[in-house]
Amino acid sequence: MLRPPYSSYKRLYVYHLDLARIPQVNSPDLIGIWMEDRTAVLFFHTPQKELIENLCTRENSKLIYEADLDYQDWEAGQLISTFTENGLTVAPVWEDVPADIVLDPSVIFGSGFHPTTRACLQILLKYLKTPEIKIDSAIDLGTGTGLLSIAAAHFGVQSITAVDNNPLACQVAAKNCKLNKVDANVTVKEIDLRSDLPSTTGCNLVVANLYQGLLKQLIQTPDFWLADLYILSGFISSMEADLLAELPTEKIRFLERTRVDNWCIWVIANRNLAQ
Ligand SMILES: C[S@@+](CC[C@H](N)C(=O)[O-])C[C@H]1O[C@@H](n2cnc3c(N)ncnc32)[C@H](O)[C@@H]1O
Repeated sequence: MLRPPYSSYKRLYVYHLDLARIPQVNSPDLIGIWMEDRTAVLFFHTPQKELIENLCTRENSKLIYEADLDYQDWEAGQLISTFTENGLTVAPVWEDVPADIVLDPSVIFGSGFHPTTRACLQILLKYLKTPEIKIDSAIDLGTGTGLLSIAAAHFGVQSITAVDNNPLACQVAAKNCKLNKVDANVTVKEIDLRSDLPSTTGCNLVVANLYQGLLKQLIQTPDFWLADLYILSGFISSMEADLLAELPTEKIRFLERTRVDNWCIWVIANRNLAQ
């Protein structure tokens, strides 16, 4: 995340260590630490060879790889800048422009420049603006930067649970909720959805932009299907059949099935939701 003296991201210095717990790092140049499969990925604004060597000695850990790259390359070549979707303007914190939402995307998925994020946002806004559909509560599974939760709160959703298993994503999402003054409405929770699912009972909306394997697991879980409305994405067209086969068709109906750049987006309603 951005902390003074930094106000934007330019070059990223990345160190991947075989370390199963989040290490204590006191450096003003630290952007954040990802934990992934019992390894730690540390991101800095500047090179940190000595700090990493000391850390490896202290923690009895090894450097698996190191890399440095431009922030734009980390963001798949996309220049992260202000965009407007369905009347909602989203600006990165380093652009001083009028915006509805300001975002520190950090090194977390959900800047708004991936087709799935943008499509989920577009569809989310469409349903939030549909007066016949009441959305007071929502669950955002795999929240990343928190953008979708913040957009929902911006349009009046009172109670949102934003979930991610990446501790840095949770920190970034919580910071972004605070920045946008929706932290009273959005509760960020660090949960691994492979082993734990927040209750969907009575929830109006579930948004899940996740990878196929995890979506399949969720779709197969009866307790996943207790909400009214679902926006699902994160899989490409060749994966669709595999997921379709798992849907509890007796309980649900499709409202929309669309594609953007080969990424699929499904909008599904529980059959108990008024037609
Ligand atoms: C494709 S990104 C979506 C981010 C954001 N919702 C968006 O639409 O841009 C998926 C997110 O799910 C999170 N995730 C992956 N596996 C997870 C798991 N097992 N439990 C919880 N979150 C997970 C990732 O850390 C990542 O932030």
